[in-house]
Amino acid sequence: MRPLVPTHVETLKPYVPGKPIEETEREFGLKGVIKLASNENPLGPSPRAVEAMRTASAATHLYPDATSFHLVRKLAAHVGVRPEEVVLGCGSNELIELLIRTFTTPEDEILLCKGSFSAYRISAQAHGRPFVEVPMKAGYQYDLEAMAKAVTPRTRMVFLANPDNPTGTAFSRAALEQFLAAVPAEVLVVHDEAYFEFVDWPEYASGVELFRKHPNLVALRTFSKIHGLAGVRLGYGIMDAKLAAYVHRTRMPFNLTVVAQAAGMAALEDTEHVKRTRENNRLGLRYYAEELPKLGATLTHSHANFVFADFHRPAVELYELLLRKGVIVRPFASQGFPTCLRISVGTPAENERCVRALKEILS
Ligand SMILES: Cc1ncc(COP(=O)(O)O)c(C=O)c1O
Repeated sequence: MRPLVPTHVETLKPYVPGKPIEETEREFGLKGVIKLASNENPLGPSPRAVEAMRTASAATHLYPDATSFHLVRKLAAHVGVRPEEVVLGCGSNELIELLIRTFTTPEDEILLCKGSFSAYRISAQAHGRPFVEVPMKAGYQYDLEAMAKAVTPRTRMVFLANPDNPTGTAFSRAALEQFLAAVPAEVLVVHDEAYFEFVDWPEYASGVELFRKHPNLVALRTFSKIHGLAGVRLGYGIMDAKLAAYVHRTRMPFNLTVVAQAAGMAALEDTEHVKRTRENNRLGLRYYAEELPKLGATLTHSHANFVFADFHRPAVELYELLLRKGVIVRPFASQGFPTCLRISVGTPAENERCVRALKEILS
């Protein structure tokens, strides 16, 4: 008998999201649980976006504008590119899927960094695309030289998370340019910059600065982090207009809701919320960098809105003890980091509560 699903679906290990607050409260009989597990915005959504969504909800009996005409134009002007170079998605996660299904076949290979953002691997496998994973180098850094060497005639696409999730590390413009110079022009290089707004490092470069020189480079961005709109599902890709036109062929016509389009328009104008979020993040990263080493943890230099802490002991245990104290963080044993936790930056009160809980557990 034919199996119900192809082998690549049978063996697919689905994405494990951060544990929800409500479920944790139910399971442990707690109230006031805090979630520092999904790199969400601790200040909430952009207030201007909330207002715009309220207004837009009155028109939700109509299908959305299938081309997201106004948002595409506003975003293009905001980023400094042409509207033809923008593709919007239901989260940048949808763009990962769209790029894979538009540009690769089951005969092509996708090159990934082992231990990096799991959505690349899951999307590749869900589409039945073979993938090759190159280990990180010391310091939880992408090994771009080894990745360039791992490119074969079958390689069609490479995913680079910069800054990386879950490690928070980043690589420089020089390293990215060196990689682009080493990779054949027919290999698409996807530079996922979900956290680029948090980067405070002059050597960092966005793919937006480089895609004209390298038309095989795609930059992915999201409204989920700095704009606090993870629940709305809104992301975008900046790429050569020819690539964008192909992606438009394969995407669903109404992939962005009426509400999401309105939220995106307003969020782009909410510079105050972006500024507050960045400042809260800067203080949170500094706080964790000061406090966690006192508890024996080693941190990477995070360029994102979370810290990646090696506690040098089984981290799943720590994670479970933290849950009992009402603090949800994220263990990464299944991604090859059995002694590490990823802790999202929260409000100052949330960060302090997390450190206090860790202190109690570890003392
Ligand atoms: C590196 C990276 N890329 C993409 C995403 C997905 O973002 P979105 O919410 O836009 O789908 C995340 C979310 O955590 C991420 O960490």
